[in-house]
Amino acid sequence: MKVLIVGGGGREHALAWKLAQSPRLGRLYTAPGNPGTASLGVTVPLAADAGPALVDWSVTNAIDLVVIGPEAPLAAGLADALRGRGLRVFGPSRAAAEIEASKAFAKAFMRRHNLPTARHATFTDYYAAVGHLLAVDFERSGVVIKASGLAAGKGVVVPECADDADAALRDIMVTGAHGAAGQTVVIEERLSGEEVSLLAFSDGTTVKAMLPAQDHKRLGDNDQGPNTGGMGAIAPTPLCPPALTEQITVTILQPAIDGLRAEGRPFVGVLYAGLMLTPAGPQVLEFNCRFGDPETEALMPLLESDLLDILAACADGRLAEVDVRWRAGAAACVILAAAGYPAAPETGRAIRGLNQPLDQAVIYHAGTRQVGDEVVTAGGRVLAVTGWGANLKDALGQAYQVASGIHFDGVQYRHDIGQRALRGIS
Ligand code: AMP
Ligand code: GLY
Repeated sequence: MKVLIVGGGGREHALAWKLAQSPRLGRLYTAPGNPGTASLGVTVPLAADAGPALVDWSVTNAIDLVVIGPEAPLAAGLADALRGRGLRVFGPSRAAAEIEASKAFAKAFMRRHNLPTARHATFTDYYAAVGHLLAVDFERSGVVIKASGLAAGKGVVVPECADDADAALRDIMVTGAHGAAGQTVVIEERLSGEEVSLLAFSDGTTVKAMLPAQDHKRLGDNDQGPNTGGMGAIAPTPLCPPALTEQITVTILQPAIDGLRAEGRPFVGVLYAGLMLTPAGPQVLEFNCRFGDPETEALMPLLESDLLDILAACADGRLAEVDVRWRAGAAACVILAAAGYPAAPETGRAIRGLNQPLDQAVIYHAGTRQVGDEVVTAGGRVLAVTGWGANLKDALGQAYQVASGIHFDGVQYRHDIGQRALRGIS
């Protein structure tokens, strides 16, 4: 089979790494890929948002399956355009991707289908939103303010006081910090608890959950510092034991897939539920319409089944026929970020230590570039180092041993990935 992966980050390298293990894989292409995916297949010099050019290229090259990584091309309708030309695609239609691309749609959808989520109100008028905030008691509870559209993970503010909330609202709705994504705003009740990511494969009808994973969003140890795209991940997280995973699958993921189909938006791809485990049970913070990053980097080494079989079965509507099996043990991913990340990452620094011997570990490229014989930094999140083993402690040991052998100017990473889970803190 000829497979094209659209995207060029750590998530796409992890998908390429796993697909490359499939006996059914003929040729692997990535667009635009990165130096990591280049060692596994052919790099296609087209950006993930190249739309019509990607469609033409896929038709011309008779691609058997297109796998779309990032949310932006999905929200822009790339899957529809490819299907319209007769191609087989793993990734939701534009209409189904609204579950991530419009938080206003997602919240209303959850309400329509009785999915557990924080209470909310949606606003397109700034003064109406300000009026709503006046009733909030920041001492007792609090709110979360969200730009409704796609804002690269930066559209959510958790204000500590009324002044912060006002400032956030002004920033999003008046100043237009996130452009059109902030024309509509969701204000929701603030929840507390541990956060878990549960991703599931779906062909639009059948749902098969992955192992529960946990992201680490803050830049610094002990969850200090600014929010990032994710500084590390573990899977499976002991915070979500198998019975709870099953409960979430039955009460949240399956009804969401059924609801989308019933509303004429069948969802083919990965549905990602970002959940808060509260005393009242799991609540949905958000849905994403794609594989998580860096969750995927931790999940792929634990997938025992053939990823290509699963993705092709989803695209063909026959996921029920395919086994999705996971290995025992655990995996942990540590992100190596550039100096200045997330505000203003430094780029162009030479990276050393990429060729060290690896046993139960893999170094995924996220933001790197090949310059002559050298690989240099080219983004905020530079590398995703994943280790695995019989348990989380072993997995972390593998990941940190490899991470400590990699060097570039200003490299920064968290030293406490998985520690809360290890200590069993809830
Ligand atoms: P989202 O993009 O909607 O997942 O929000 C990003 C982050 O904001 C989440 O990972 C949570 O840490 C936080 N968050 C979102 N919604 C809530 C909520 N209702 N209560 C508390 N924290 C939240
Ligand atoms: N790990 C967060 C995300 O993929 O959105």
